[in-house]
Amino acid sequence: MTDQASDKRVLLIVGGGVAAYKALELVRLLRKAGVGVRPILTKAGAEFVTALSLSALSEDKVYGDLFSLTDEAEMGHIQLSRSADLVVVAPATADLIAKAAHGLAGDLASTTLLATDKPVLMAPAMNVRMWLHPATQRNLETLKADGVSFVGPDDGAMACGEFGPGRLAEPPVIFEAIMEALAGPAAQSSKRGPLLGKHALVTAGPTFEPIDPVRGITNRSSGRQGYAIAGALAKLGARVTLVSGPVALPTPFGVDRVDVETARDMLAASQAALPADVGVFVAAVADWRIDEVFGTKLKKDKGGPPALTFVENPDILATLSASGPRRPKLVIGFAAETNDVEAHARAKLARKGCDWIIANDVTEPGVMGGDENAVLLISKDKTERWDRAAKDAVAHDLAQRIAESLS
Ligand code: C5P
Repeated sequence: MTDQASDKRVLLIVGGGVAAYKALELVRLLRKAGVGVRPILTKAGAEFVTALSLSALSEDKVYGDLFSLTDEAEMGHIQLSRSADLVVVAPATADLIAKAAHGLAGDLASTTLLATDKPVLMAPAMNVRMWLHPATQRNLETLKADGVSFVGPDDGAMACGEFGPGRLAEPPVIFEAIMEALAGPAAQSSKRGPLLGKHALVTAGPTFEPIDPVRGITNRSSGRQGYAIAGALAKLGARVTLVSGPVALPTPFGVDRVDVETARDMLAASQAALPADVGVFVAAVADWRIDEVFGTKLKKDKGGPPALTFVENPDILATLSASGPRRPKLVIGFAAETNDVEAHARAKLARKGCDWIIANDVTEPGVMGGDENAVLLISKDKTERWDRAAKDAVAHDLAQRIAESLS
């Protein structure tokens, strides 16, 4: 894909927002892959990044003014709007999205979006309330109906101090979406990969079990391994549903993410995602939840610490592993162990009724919450020891093995 993309050009509109600095990293990634980038910097965008940085990284002229005689003499705005294979808007602000949805053309960026005959990809970024506002949601629907594609936004903490959807997708994710779009509709509809036509269900991250309206029980799972697996399966052509507990990670490109908090919600969302060809249960699910969640915030002054009673949570892996018409063909569980890794994991394989267990020793430095993993793949009749590797590499190898097993 990169080879084909190396003679392609992107017209990159950089809107005004704190996330505009990420556009610089995006330009770097595109140039590294050999993709030409011609930037348009809006007036608001120029408050956040400089034309000089964009020009240096893109090795091209930066356009900004609709009424610049010099620019118009060199390349008219209509020509500019068609000078690339793809128009990318990153960050796409609420204002740019609204202008594009309504066909306004008061500045170079919006004029370009109205005049272009090329596909458009937008990476939105804005405050959560602005994103959720019915006006923005309406504008998105309009643009989607017009054929505009979107990547992101992500959930997470925002520069304005709020939390929720509205963060610009990370540059590597936008980059992948661009490469996919540059590969063209034919390549997309005949999306390559050995898992084409397969549906994968992946659970990831921790769960959050409430105690009262403001407190809860959770764990330190980062979700990284599960997210990497979801992304790797999507890259091999699978349709992927990622049922995720609360994590601060971007959704991998091409993955459908369903956000949940509790184990019971995670089970319900996983069951709703069936049928699936493969289920990969990576989430660190809380074993217990509070019997009865307090309806109001527990107070310190009410006669000492409260007595909390726990009840067991459903085992999602065991439930979906149980034989039946909706059982995925291949069910994979994870086991984080601190001793006798193989023996414990093998016992878990039998207890949960799954086909494979991916086991790791979490006492190894840098595994829990880190970027690397050293795993054993345990099936009914054999044990494989994989070398310590980056979680992305483990995910890639596992996705390959899943593809071989399902073929
Ligand atoms: O029993 P244990 O928590 O060690 O098992 C780990 C495996 O079981 C992981 O694959 C995890 O995602 C899954 N699991 C689950 N639901 C639970 C507990 C664990 O899906 N309630």
